[in-house]
Amino acid sequence: MWFVYIVVLYLLGSLRPSISVFQNCAPEKQCVPYEQCNEGLTVDGKFYPDRSRTTLDGNCHYMEKCCNIQDILSTPGLPQEAANCPCGGRHDLWYYLRPLGYKQQEAKFGEFPWLVAVYGADTYLCSGALITPLAVITTAHCVQNVQEAGKLRVVAGEWDAAVELEPQPHQARSVVESLVHPNYTQMPMANNMAILLVDKDKPFQLAPNVQPICLPPPQMAYNYSQCYVSGWQRGDFGASAILPKRWTLYVLPPDQCRTKLRLSFLGRRHAHNDSLLCAGGDKGDFVCGDVDMTGVPLMCPLSGHDDRFHLAGLLTRTARCDGPQFLGIYTNVKLYRQWIDLKLRERDLDIRQYMV
Ligand SMILES: *[C@@H]1O[C@H](CO)[C@@H](O)[C@H](O)[C@H]1NC(C)=O
Ligand SMILES: *[C@@H]1O[C@H](CO)[C@@H](O)[C@H](O)[C@H]1NC(C)=O
Ligand SMILES: *[C@@H]1O[C@H](CO)[C@@H](O)[C@H](O)[C@H]1NC(C)=O
Repeated sequence: MWFVYIVVLYLLGSLRPSISVFQNCAPEKQCVPYEQCNEGLTVDGKFYPDRSRTTLDGNCHYMEKCCNIQDILSTPGLPQEAANCPCGGRHDLWYYLRPLGYKQQEAKFGEFPWLVAVYGADTYLCSGALITPLAVITTAHCVQNVQEAGKLRVVAGEWDAAVELEPQPHQARSVVESLVHPNYTQMPMANNMAILLVDKDKPFQLAPNVQPICLPPPQMAYNYSQCYVSGWQRGDFGASAILPKRWTLYVLPPDQCRTKLRLSFLGRRHAHNDSLLCAGGDKGDFVCGDVDMTGVPLMCPLSGHDDRFHLAGLLTRTARCDGPQFLGIYTNVKLYRQWIDLKLRERDLDIRQYMV
């Protein structure tokens, strides 16, 4: 029942369920999102919802609690976090919501608050990253076939794309301008990058689940740096839970990347091209050869900060999947910094948000 309701809501826009529609889960109890159930702890004026699960909670969606009717709050007890942190920063771990039966490969709620879902008409196309409240970076490959920018939609702060029960709502915006890199080529894959701009009058509102990521400084070097990729998979759409995946990878230094690519099926054509980054890891963790994964952001810690990230790359394709290790190639974002700065400046858009 709730599912049908949510689908209808979804089609109507980004409304959120109101109190009257909650489903009964036991006598005098209804299923409500955790933050709307006044059962939990208040510490230093901050409300921490009780996220433990009882048998009765099993009658509700995994993001809901079976709550006594008199404890239902009409407005969610949202944490009063500062909306602004520096680029690539994120909020407290307690706030991360995990699905039941949590798997290592799934990102938690708010773990990568710059992660954006890109839609064309009503179909999910790919993932991207928010760099300012008005600009998203993704691959050219993802948006090249959408002729009118107006058909593209970007959704920030999303987590489970099947429902609207997250502690903070997601935010959807239409794309007003889609800038594909002028030297993008598919064969050989080069300059696979695009900037998607939203209406200046409707910027994304920064929130604990909506934050920009930093862009790397041009002198950034990768030497087996441990990084992450995260994004949704197209094949998951239509399921009852559509959660972003998350993998740990290592970014290779350029000489290693060149050597490994020469040995891969992509051959010499890609053997020497520094516009690409190589990152790999354990195949068990990664869906190999999934062409739908293009555009997922590769995110690395900023040097000197364990918990702040910059956008190192965008997945262009997986290059090697035979054997226990795999290798993927990524657009090397640091080389496009000048182009991105220029395009935003030409439109009088603030570029300070993504600067380290
Ligand atoms: C595209 O390639 C041309 C020719 O190599 C070059 O002059 C131009 O600067 C490139 N454009 C960008 C945005 O890099
Ligand atoms: C990468 O790190 C290793 C070990 O710390 C070091 O020996 C090597 O010189 C570094 N390579 C580059 C290109 O910085
Ligand atoms: C990478 O390949 C593209 C397409 O062939 C080419 O335009 C670009 O100059 C190459 N970059 C480097 C650093 O070799």
